[in-house]
Amino acid sequence: MRPAKRFLIRTYGCQMNAHDSDKVANLLCHEGFRAAETLRDADLLVINTCSIREKAEHRLYSDLGALRAWKRERPGRLLGVAGCVAQQEGDAILRRFGHVDLVFGTHNLRLVPTMVADAERGARRVETTESASLERFDLPERHPDHPGQAPGRAYVTVMEGCDMFCSFCVVPNTRGREISRPADAIVAEAESLAARGVRELTLLGQTVNAYGRHDLRRQRSEAAGTTPFASLLRRLAAIPGIARLRYTSPHPLFFDDELVRAHAELDALCPHVHLPVQSGSDAVLARMRRRHRASDYRRLVDRLRGARPDLALTTDLIVGFPGETDADFDATLGLVRDVGFVDSFSFKYSPRPHTRAAELEDRVPAPLAQERLEALQSVQRSLTLAAHRSRVGEQTEILIEGPSRRGGPQRSGRDPYHRVVNVTTPASEAPEPGRLVAVRLVEATPHSLIGELAREDLRADHPAAVKGGRGSADEPPRRVATGA
Ligand code: 5AD
Ligand code: SF4
Repeated sequence: MRPAKRFLIRTYGCQMNAHDSDKVANLLCHEGFRAAETLRDADLLVINTCSIREKAEHRLYSDLGALRAWKRERPGRLLGVAGCVAQQEGDAILRRFGHVDLVFGTHNLRLVPTMVADAERGARRVETTESASLERFDLPERHPDHPGQAPGRAYVTVMEGCDMFCSFCVVPNTRGREISRPADAIVAEAESLAARGVRELTLLGQTVNAYGRHDLRRQRSEAAGTTPFASLLRRLAAIPGIARLRYTSPHPLFFDDELVRAHAELDALCPHVHLPVQSGSDAVLARMRRRHRASDYRRLVDRLRGARPDLALTTDLIVGFPGETDADFDATLGLVRDVGFVDSFSFKYSPRPHTRAAELEDRVPAPLAQERLEALQSVQRSLTLAAHRSRVGEQTEILIEGPSRRGGPQRSGRDPYHRVVNVTTPASEAPEPGRLVAVRLVEATPHSLIGELAREDLRADHPAAVKGGRGSADEPPRRVATGA
Protein backbone atom coordinates (compact mmCIF):
# COMPACT_ATOMS: atom_id res chain seq x y z
CA MET A 1 0.00 0.00 0.00
CA ARG A 2 1.20 3.50 -0.82
CA PRO A 3 2.08 5.48 2.31
CA ALA A 4 -0.53 8.10 3.14
CA LYS A 5 0.22 11.61 1.94
CA ARG A 6 0.89 14.07 4.67
CA PHE A 7 -0.44 17.59 5.15
CA LEU A 8 0.51 20.55 7.25
CA ILE A 9 -1.64 23.62 7.86
CA ARG A 10 -0.04 26.90 8.87
CA THR A 11 -2.63 29.15 10.45
CA TYR A 12 -2.58 32.91 10.96
CA GLY A 13 -5.18 35.14 12.55
CA CYS A 14 -8.26 34.63 14.65
CA GLN A 15 -10.01 31.64 16.18
CA MET A 16 -12.33 31.42 13.20
CA ASN A 17 -9.26 30.70 11.09
CA ALA A 18 -7.95 28.21 13.64
CA HIS A 19 -11.30 26.46 13.56
CA ASP A 20 -11.39 26.50 9.75
CA SER A 21 -7.94 24.90 9.70
CA ASP A 22 -9.24 22.22 11.98
CA LYS A 23 -12.15 21.60 9.58
CA VAL A 24 -9.78 21.37 6.62
CA ALA A 25 -7.52 18.96 8.55
CA ASN A 26 -10.55 16.87 9.31
CA LEU A 27 -11.64 16.79 5.66
CA LEU A 28 -8.14 15.79 4.56
CA CYS A 29 -8.08 12.94 7.10
CA HIS A 30 -11.33 11.70 5.59
CA GLU A 31 -9.53 11.66 2.23
CA GLY A 32 -6.77 9.42 3.61
CA PHE A 33 -4.21 12.13 4.34
CA ARG A 34 -2.30 12.11 7.60
CA ALA A 35 -1.01 15.05 9.60
CA ALA A 36 2.69 15.79 9.03
CA GLU A 37 4.88 16.63 11.99
CA THR A 38 7.13 19.07 10.15
CA LEU A 39 7.27 20.96 6.88
CA ARG A 40 9.94 18.55 5.62
CA ASP A 41 7.53 15.64 6.01
CA ALA A 42 4.66 17.40 4.29
CA ASP A 43 3.37 16.62 0.81
CA LEU A 44 0.72 19.32 1.06
CA LEU A 45 1.05 22.65 2.85
CA VAL A 46 -1.97 24.89 3.30
CA ILE A 47 -1.43 28.44 4.53
CA ASN A 48 -4.57 29.75 6.16
CA THR A 49 -4.17 33.49 5.91
CA CYS A 50 -5.29 36.60 7.73
CA SER A 51 -5.72 40.07 6.25
CA ILE A 52 -6.95 42.03 9.25
CA ARG A 53 -3.85 44.24 9.16
CA GLU A 54 -1.28 44.81 6.46
CA LYS A 55 1.42 43.02 8.43
CA ALA A 56 -0.60 39.80 8.57
CA GLU A 57 -1.09 39.89 4.81
CA HIS A 58 2.60 40.50 4.19
CA ARG A 59 3.44 37.43 6.19
CA LEU A 60 1.82 35.34 3.45
CA TYR A 61 3.92 36.92 0.75
CA SER A 62 7.16 36.37 2.62
CA ASP A 63 6.13 32.79 3.39
CA LEU A 64 5.35 32.13 -0.25
CA GLY A 65 8.71 33.50 -1.32
CA ALA A 66 10.49 31.18 1.08
CA LEU A 67 8.46 28.17 -0.03
CA ARG A 68 9.73 28.13 -3.60
CA ALA A 69 12.69 26.02 -2.46
CA TRP A 70 10.40 23.69 -0.48
CA LYS A 71 8.30 23.08 -3.60
CA ARG A 72 11.36 22.39 -5.76
CA GLU A 73 12.89 20.04 -3.20
CA ARG A 74 10.42 17.25 -3.87
CA PRO A 75 8.33 16.98 -7.04
CA GLY A 76 4.65 16.37 -6.35
CA ARG A 77 4.46 18.63 -3.35
CA LEU A 78 1.38 20.85 -3.30
CA LEU A 79 0.92 24.34 -1.92
CA GLY A 80 -2.48 25.82 -1.05
CA VAL A 81 -3.55 29.25 0.15
CA ALA A 82 -6.76 29.65 2.15
CA GLY A 83 -8.44 32.19 4.38
CA CYS A 84 -9.02 35.92 4.16
CA VAL A 85 -6.17 36.86 1.80
CA ALA A 86 -7.20 34.01 -0.51
CA GLN A 87 -10.78 35.30 -0.45
CA GLN A 88 -9.65 38.82 -1.23
CA GLU A 89 -6.91 38.23 -3.76
CA GLY A 90 -8.14 35.04 -5.45
CA ASP A 91 -6.45 34.31 -8.74
CA ALA A 92 -4.02 37.20 -8.33
CA ILE A 93 -2.18 34.80 -6.02
CA LEU A 94 -2.07 32.07 -8.66
CA ARG A 95 -0.84 34.56 -11.26
CA ARG A 96 1.83 36.05 -9.05
CA PHE A 97 3.08 32.80 -7.52
CA GLY A 98 3.56 30.03 -10.04
CA HIS A 99 4.31 27.52 -7.32
CA VAL A 100 0.89 27.85 -5.66
CA ASP A 101 -1.46 25.03 -6.71
CA LEU A 102 -4.76 25.88 -5.09
CA VAL A 103 -6.45 28.93 -3.61
CA PHE A 104 -9.68 28.60 -1.70
CA GLY A 105 -11.71 31.24 0.07
CA THR A 106 -13.51 31.30 3.39
CA HIS A 107 -16.74 29.81 1.98
CA ASN A 108 -15.12 27.00 0.05
CA LEU A 109 -13.55 24.71 2.62
CA ARG A 110 -15.60 21.75 1.51
CA LEU A 111 -14.04 21.90 -1.98
CA VAL A 112 -10.57 21.16 -0.64
CA PRO A 113 -10.57 17.42 -1.40
CA THR A 114 -11.55 17.91 -5.05
CA MET A 115 -9.18 20.84 -5.45
CA VAL A 116 -6.31 18.78 -4.08
CA ALA A 117 -7.21 15.89 -6.42
CA ASP A 118 -7.23 18.32 -9.37
CA ALA A 119 -3.92 19.81 -8.30
CA GLU A 120 -2.42 16.31 -8.17
CA ARG A 121 -3.36 16.03 -11.85
CA GLY A 122 -1.71 19.36 -12.53
CA ALA A 123 -4.86 21.53 -12.64
CA ARG A 124 -4.37 24.69 -10.61
CA ARG A 125 -7.64 26.05 -9.26
CA VAL A 126 -9.03 29.02 -7.41
CA GLU A 127 -12.41 29.00 -5.64
CA THR A 128 -13.62 32.11 -3.87
CA THR A 129 -17.33 32.18 -4.59
CA GLU A 130 -19.36 33.56 -1.74
CA SER A 131 -22.12 31.27 -0.70
CA ALA A 132 -25.26 31.99 1.30
CA SER A 133 -25.83 28.29 1.84
CA LEU A 134 -26.00 26.77 5.30
CA GLU A 135 -24.11 23.80 3.88
CA ARG A 136 -20.83 25.36 4.84
CA PHE A 137 -21.59 24.72 8.50
CA ASP A 138 -22.02 20.99 8.22
CA LEU A 139 -18.66 19.52 7.50
CA PRO A 140 -18.25 15.84 8.31
CA GLU A 141 -17.91 14.44 11.77
CA ARG A 142 -14.42 14.47 13.19
CA HIS A 143 -12.20 11.75 11.78
CA PRO A 144 -10.73 9.41 14.43
CA ASP A 145 -7.23 10.20 13.09
CA HIS A 146 -7.81 13.87 13.73
CA PRO A 147 -8.61 14.19 17.40
CA GLY A 148 -8.15 17.97 17.38
CA GLN A 149 -5.61 20.07 19.13
CA ALA A 150 -7.34 20.77 22.39
CA PRO A 151 -8.55 17.93 24.55
CA GLY A 152 -11.52 18.96 26.62
CA ARG A 153 -12.19 22.13 24.63
CA ALA A 154 -13.83 22.85 21.30
CA TYR A 155 -14.96 25.68 19.10
CA VAL A 156 -18.43 25.62 17.64
CA THR A 157 -19.36 28.02 14.84
CA VAL A 158 -22.77 29.59 15.39
CA MET A 159 -22.70 32.36 12.81
CA GLU A 160 -20.34 33.66 10.19
CA GLY A 161 -19.78 36.84 8.28
CA CYS A 162 -20.35 40.43 9.30
CA ASP A 163 -22.81 43.07 8.15
CA MET A 164 -21.53 45.82 10.45
CA PHE A 165 -18.97 47.36 8.09
CA CYS A 166 -16.89 49.19 10.67
CA SER A 167 -14.94 51.62 8.54
CA PHE A 168 -11.51 50.13 9.33
CA CYS A 169 -12.37 46.48 8.94
CA VAL A 170 -11.79 44.11 6.07
CA VAL A 171 -13.82 41.26 7.58
CA PRO A 172 -17.15 42.05 5.88
CA ASN A 173 -15.28 41.71 2.56
CA THR A 174 -13.39 38.56 3.42
CA ARG A 175 -16.03 36.68 5.39
CA GLY A 176 -19.11 37.90 3.53
CA ARG A 177 -22.64 38.47 4.77
CA GLU A 178 -23.92 37.39 8.16
CA ILE A 179 -25.44 33.95 8.25
CA SER A 180 -26.59 32.03 11.33
CA ARG A 181 -26.62 28.32 11.74
CA PRO A 182 -29.81 26.56 12.87
CA ALA A 183 -29.88 26.07 16.65
CA ASP A 184 -30.65 22.35 16.40
CA ALA A 185 -27.47 21.73 14.38
CA ILE A 186 -25.41 23.68 16.91
CA VAL A 187 -26.91 21.77 19.83
CA ALA A 188 -26.37 18.43 18.05
CA GLU A 189 -22.70 19.25 17.45
CA ALA A 190 -22.30 20.34 21.07
CA GLU A 191 -23.92 17.14 22.33
CA SER A 192 -21.62 14.99 20.25
CA LEU A 193 -18.59 16.95 21.49
CA ALA A 194 -19.75 16.55 25.09
CA ALA A 195 -20.18 12.82 24.54
CA ARG A 196 -16.51 12.71 23.50
CA GLY A 197 -15.34 14.40 26.69
CA VAL A 198 -15.40 18.07 25.72
CA ARG A 199 -16.07 20.20 28.82
CA GLU A 200 -15.63 23.70 27.42
CA LEU A 201 -17.30 25.13 24.34
CA THR A 202 -16.40 28.43 22.73
CA LEU A 203 -19.08 29.70 20.39
CA LEU A 204 -17.61 31.46 17.41
CA GLY A 205 -18.92 34.19 15.17
CA GLN A 206 -17.61 37.48 13.79
CA THR A 207 -20.41 39.20 15.73
CA VAL A 208 -21.39 36.16 17.70
CA ASN A 209 -24.16 37.74 19.77
CA ALA A 210 -25.86 38.96 16.59
CA TYR A 211 -26.68 35.28 16.17
CA GLY A 212 -30.07 34.86 14.51
CA ARG A 213 -30.74 38.59 14.35
CA HIS A 214 -31.70 38.57 10.69
CA ASP A 215 -34.33 35.93 11.46
CA LEU A 216 -35.69 37.64 14.54
CA ARG A 217 -39.34 37.88 13.52
CA ARG A 218 -40.94 34.76 14.91
CA GLN A 219 -41.97 33.06 11.70
CA ARG A 220 -38.70 33.74 9.99
CA SER A 221 -36.71 32.48 12.92
CA GLU A 222 -38.79 29.30 13.00
CA ALA A 223 -38.15 28.77 9.30
CA ALA A 224 -34.43 29.43 9.66
CA GLY A 225 -34.20 27.38 12.83
CA THR A 226 -32.41 30.09 14.80
CA THR A 227 -33.27 31.55 18.21
CA PRO A 228 -32.11 34.64 20.06
CA PHE A 229 -28.51 34.21 21.23
CA ALA A 230 -29.44 33.95 24.93
CA SER A 231 -31.83 31.06 24.22
CA LEU A 232 -29.07 29.29 22.37
CA LEU A 233 -26.77 29.70 25.37
CA ARG A 234 -29.46 28.26 27.65
CA ARG A 235 -29.85 25.19 25.48
CA LEU A 236 -26.10 24.60 25.36
CA ALA A 237 -25.61 25.17 29.09
CA ALA A 238 -28.14 22.42 29.76
CA ILE A 239 -26.10 19.74 27.94
CA PRO A 240 -24.74 17.22 30.46
CA GLY A 241 -20.94 17.38 30.63
CA ILE A 242 -20.63 20.95 29.37
CA ALA A 243 -19.05 22.73 32.32
CA ARG A 244 -17.97 25.90 30.57
CA LEU A 245 -19.43 28.07 27.85
CA ARG A 246 -17.68 31.01 26.21
CA TYR A 247 -18.42 33.10 23.15
CA THR A 248 -16.29 35.36 20.97
CA SER A 249 -16.39 38.04 19.71
CA PRO A 250 -19.56 39.89 20.65
CA HIS A 251 -20.46 43.38 19.44
CA PRO A 252 -21.59 45.89 22.09
CA LEU A 253 -24.76 46.59 20.11
CA PHE A 254 -26.26 43.13 20.57
CA PHE A 255 -26.51 42.66 24.33
CA ASP A 256 -30.22 42.42 25.03
CA ASP A 257 -31.50 42.01 28.59
CA GLU A 258 -31.84 38.26 28.09
CA LEU A 259 -28.15 37.93 27.29
CA VAL A 260 -27.17 40.05 30.27
CA ARG A 261 -29.44 37.93 32.48
CA ALA A 262 -27.85 34.77 31.13
CA HIS A 263 -24.61 35.93 32.74
CA ALA A 264 -26.37 36.06 36.10
CA GLU A 265 -28.21 32.78 35.74
CA LEU A 266 -26.13 30.27 33.80
CA ASP A 267 -23.47 28.62 35.93
CA ALA A 268 -21.71 27.27 32.86
CA LEU A 269 -21.38 30.69 31.24
CA CYS A 270 -17.85 31.83 32.09
CA PRO A 271 -17.40 35.14 33.90
CA HIS A 272 -15.29 36.58 31.08
CA VAL A 273 -16.32 38.52 28.00
CA HIS A 274 -13.98 39.69 25.28
CA LEU A 275 -15.80 42.88 24.32
CA PRO A 276 -14.06 44.95 21.63
CA VAL A 277 -14.42 48.70 22.12
CA GLN A 278 -11.76 49.98 19.66
CA SER A 279 -11.68 53.54 21.07
CA GLY A 280 -12.86 55.59 24.04
CA SER A 281 -13.55 58.71 21.98
CA ASP A 282 -17.01 59.36 20.54
CA ALA A 283 -15.56 61.29 17.60
CA VAL A 284 -13.30 58.37 16.68
CA LEU A 285 -16.05 55.78 17.29
CA ALA A 286 -18.28 57.74 14.91
CA ARG A 287 -15.60 57.78 12.19
CA MET A 288 -15.07 54.09 12.83
CA ARG A 289 -18.83 53.60 12.27
CA ARG A 290 -19.06 51.55 15.43
CA ARG A 291 -22.68 52.60 16.06
CA HIS A 292 -22.16 53.13 19.78
CA ARG A 293 -20.67 55.84 21.96
CA ALA A 294 -18.21 55.41 24.79
CA SER A 295 -21.02 56.05 27.27
CA ASP A 296 -23.09 53.21 25.73
CA TYR A 297 -20.15 50.90 26.23
CA ARG A 298 -19.69 52.00 29.85
CA ARG A 299 -23.39 51.43 30.50
CA LEU A 300 -23.16 47.96 29.01
CA VAL A 301 -20.22 47.16 31.27
CA ASP A 302 -22.32 48.27 34.25
CA ARG A 303 -25.24 46.09 33.16
CA LEU A 304 -22.98 43.07 32.73
CA ARG A 305 -21.27 43.62 36.06
CA GLY A 306 -24.67 44.14 37.65
CA ALA A 307 -25.51 40.63 36.48
CA ARG A 308 -22.10 39.16 37.27
CA PRO A 309 -20.04 41.33 39.64
CA ASP A 310 -16.83 39.32 39.18
CA LEU A 311 -16.97 39.53 35.38
CA ALA A 312 -13.54 39.89 33.74
CA LEU A 313 -13.45 42.01 30.62
CA THR A 314 -10.89 42.07 27.85
CA THR A 315 -11.01 44.18 24.71
CA ASP A 316 -9.55 45.20 21.35
CA LEU A 317 -8.29 48.74 20.77
CA ILE A 318 -7.01 50.62 17.76
CA VAL A 319 -4.70 53.61 18.15
CA GLY A 320 -3.73 56.12 15.48
CA PHE A 321 -7.06 55.94 13.64
CA PRO A 322 -7.25 58.83 11.13
CA GLY A 323 -7.96 62.10 12.90
CA GLU A 324 -7.24 60.73 16.40
CA THR A 325 -6.15 63.68 18.57
CA ASP A 326 -4.30 63.63 21.89
CA ALA A 327 -7.64 64.26 23.58
CA ASP A 328 -9.22 61.32 21.74
CA PHE A 329 -6.38 59.09 22.81
CA ASP A 330 -6.70 60.30 26.42
CA ALA A 331 -10.36 59.34 26.29
CA THR A 332 -9.29 55.82 25.30
CA LEU A 333 -6.83 55.66 28.19
CA GLY A 334 -9.55 56.92 30.52
CA LEU A 335 -12.00 54.26 29.40
CA VAL A 336 -9.40 51.51 29.71
CA ARG A 337 -8.62 52.57 33.28
CA ASP A 338 -12.25 53.05 34.29
CA VAL A 339 -13.39 49.69 32.96
CA GLY A 340 -10.27 48.01 34.33
CA PHE A 341 -9.76 45.56 31.51
CA VAL A 342 -7.92 42.47 32.66
CA ASP A 343 -6.19 42.39 29.32
CA SER A 344 -6.45 43.98 25.91
CA PHE A 345 -5.17 43.59 22.39
CA SER A 346 -4.12 46.90 20.93
CA PHE A 347 -3.12 47.70 17.38
CA LYS A 348 -1.91 50.58 15.30
CA TYR A 349 -4.46 51.43 12.66
CA SER A 350 -3.59 49.79 9.36
CA PRO A 351 -5.42 50.95 6.22
CA ARG A 352 -7.11 48.04 4.44
CA PRO A 353 -8.20 47.82 0.82
CA HIS A 354 -11.86 48.57 0.00
CA THR A 355 -12.63 49.97 3.46
CA ARG A 356 -14.06 53.44 4.08
CA ALA A 357 -11.42 54.45 6.58
CA ALA A 358 -8.73 53.91 3.97
CA GLU A 359 -10.10 57.02 2.24
CA LEU A 360 -9.99 59.19 5.37
CA GLU A 361 -7.47 62.00 5.49
CA ASP A 362 -5.65 63.28 8.51
CA ARG A 363 -3.55 60.17 8.99
CA VAL A 364 -1.73 59.93 12.31
CA PRO A 365 2.04 59.84 11.75
CA ALA A 366 3.52 56.40 12.41
CA PRO A 367 5.86 57.49 15.25
CA LEU A 368 2.95 59.11 17.10
CA ALA A 369 0.79 56.00 16.66
CA GLN A 370 3.68 53.93 18.00
CA GLU A 371 4.04 56.22 21.00
CA ARG A 372 0.34 55.90 21.77
CA LEU A 373 0.46 52.14 21.39
CA GLU A 374 3.29 51.91 23.90
CA ALA A 375 1.55 54.24 26.36
CA LEU A 376 -1.64 52.21 26.12
CA GLN A 377 0.16 48.93 26.53
CA SER A 378 1.99 50.22 29.56
CA VAL A 379 -1.30 51.20 31.23
CA GLN A 380 -2.67 47.78 30.37
CA ARG A 381 0.34 46.00 31.83
CA SER A 382 -0.24 47.66 35.21
CA LEU A 383 -3.94 46.83 35.10
CA THR A 384 -3.23 43.20 34.23
CA LEU A 385 -0.66 42.78 36.96
CA ALA A 386 -2.93 44.44 39.53
CA ALA A 387 -5.80 42.16 38.49
CA HIS A 388 -3.57 39.10 38.82
CA ARG A 389 -2.25 40.21 42.22
CA SER A 390 -5.73 40.77 43.56
CA ARG A 391 -6.46 37.11 43.01
CA VAL A 392 -3.57 35.55 44.90
CA GLY A 393 -4.95 33.30 47.62
CA GLU A 394 -8.13 32.56 45.66
CA GLN A 395 -9.20 29.06 44.81
CA THR A 396 -10.24 28.49 41.20
CA GLU A 397 -10.59 25.75 38.64
CA ILE A 398 -8.52 25.32 35.50
CA LEU A 399 -8.98 23.26 32.39
CA ILE A 400 -5.60 21.71 31.70
CA GLU A 401 -4.27 22.52 28.22
CA GLY A 402 -0.84 20.90 28.39
CA PRO A 403 2.73 21.54 29.47
CA SER A 404 3.46 25.11 30.39
CA ARG A 405 5.19 27.32 27.84
CA ARG A 406 7.77 28.04 30.51
CA GLY A 407 8.91 24.44 30.16
CA GLY A 408 9.73 22.23 33.13
CA PRO A 409 7.24 20.15 35.01
CA GLN A 410 4.52 22.81 34.97
CA ARG A 411 1.08 22.25 33.52
CA SER A 412 -0.86 25.10 32.06
CA GLY A 413 -4.58 25.76 31.89
CA ARG A 414 -7.15 28.50 31.91
CA ASP A 415 -9.43 29.50 34.71
CA PRO A 416 -13.06 30.59 34.20
CA TYR A 417 -11.86 34.19 33.70
CA HIS A 418 -9.70 32.97 30.77
CA ARG A 419 -6.48 33.68 32.62
CA VAL A 420 -3.55 31.33 32.10
CA VAL A 421 -2.63 29.50 35.29
CA ASN A 422 0.52 27.38 35.57
CA VAL A 423 0.70 24.65 38.18
CA THR A 424 3.68 22.58 39.25
CA THR A 425 2.98 18.93 39.90
CA PRO A 426 5.13 15.83 40.24
CA ALA A 427 5.46 14.36 36.72
CA SER A 428 3.72 11.17 37.79
CA GLU A 429 0.68 13.09 38.94
CA ALA A 430 0.48 15.70 36.21
CA PRO A 431 -3.17 16.12 35.23
CA GLU A 432 -3.99 15.13 31.66
CA PRO A 433 -4.93 17.79 29.12
CA GLY A 434 -8.69 18.22 29.14
CA ARG A 435 -9.10 17.74 32.88
CA LEU A 436 -10.73 20.30 35.11
CA VAL A 437 -8.79 20.64 38.32
CA ALA A 438 -9.08 22.83 41.39
CA VAL A 439 -6.11 25.06 42.13
CA ARG A 440 -5.15 27.68 44.68
CA LEU A 441 -3.51 30.77 43.23
CA VAL A 442 -0.19 31.45 44.93
CA GLU A 443 1.61 33.99 42.75
CA ALA A 444 0.90 36.63 40.14
CA THR A 445 3.10 37.36 37.12
CA PRO A 446 2.52 39.93 34.36
CA HIS A 447 1.14 37.37 31.93
CA SER A 448 -0.24 34.59 34.04
CA LEU A 449 -0.91 33.22 37.49
CA ILE A 450 0.83 30.45 39.34
CA GLY A 451 -1.21 27.93 41.24
CA GLU A 452 -0.96 24.79 43.34
CA LEU A 453 -3.20 21.81 42.95
CA ALA A 454 -5.86 21.94 45.63
CA ARG A 455 -5.80 18.17 45.99
CA GLU A 456 -8.64 17.69 48.39
CA ASP A 457 -10.90 19.63 46.06
CA LEU A 458 -10.29 17.94 42.73
CA ARG A 459 -13.54 17.53 40.88
CA ALA A 460 -15.01 14.14 41.60
CA ASP A 461 -15.81 13.42 37.99
CA HIS A 462 -13.19 13.58 35.29
CA PRO A 463 -14.95 12.62 32.11
CA ALA A 464 -12.68 14.99 30.22
CA ALA A 465 -9.49 13.13 30.89
CA VAL A 466 -8.04 12.37 27.49
CA LYS A 467 -5.24 9.86 27.34
CA GLY A 468 -2.15 10.89 25.46
CA GLY A 469 -3.72 14.12 24.21
CA ARG A 470 -1.42 16.67 22.74
CA GLY A 471 -1.07 19.72 24.93
CA SER A 472 -2.07 22.95 23.32
CA ALA A 473 -0.16 25.24 25.59
CA ASP A 474 2.77 24.83 23.18
CA GLU A 475 0.83 26.31 20.33
CA PRO A 476 1.79 29.79 19.28
CA PRO A 477 -0.40 32.37 20.99
CA ARG A 478 -3.68 32.93 19.22
CA ARG A 479 -5.34 36.24 18.80
CA VAL A 480 -8.42 36.47 20.93
CA ALA A 481 -10.60 37.95 18.27
CA THR A 482 -12.79 36.79 15.48
CA GLY A 483 -14.00 40.24 14.60
CA ALA A 484 -16.55 42.54 16.27
N1 5AD B 1 -6.14 48.22 11.68
C1 5AD B 1 -5.81 47.91 12.95
N2 5AD B 1 -6.50 47.05 13.71
C2 5AD B 1 -7.60 46.47 13.16
N3 5AD B 1 -8.48 45.60 13.65
C3 5AD B 1 -9.38 45.33 12.69
N4 5AD B 1 -9.11 46.01 11.58
C4 5AD B 1 -7.99 46.75 11.85
C5 5AD B 1 -7.23 47.67 11.09
N5 5AD B 1 -7.56 47.99 9.84
C6 5AD B 1 -8.44 45.10 15.02
C7 5AD B 1 -9.71 45.47 15.78
C8 5AD B 1 -10.47 44.18 15.81
C9 5AD B 1 -9.35 43.18 15.87
C10 5AD B 1 -9.73 41.80 15.46
O1 5AD B 1 -8.38 43.68 14.99
O2 5AD B 1 -9.35 45.89 17.06
O3 5AD B 1 -11.33 44.07 16.92
FE1 SF4 C 1 -17.57 43.32 11.79
FE2 SF4 C 1 -16.07 43.32 14.01
FE3 SF4 C 1 -14.97 44.01 11.65
FE4 SF4 C 1 -16.73 45.66 12.86
S1 SF4 C 1 -14.68 45.06 13.64
S2 SF4 C 1 -16.73 45.08 10.68
S3 SF4 C 1 -18.15 44.21 13.81
S4 SF4 C 1 -15.79 41.98 12.20
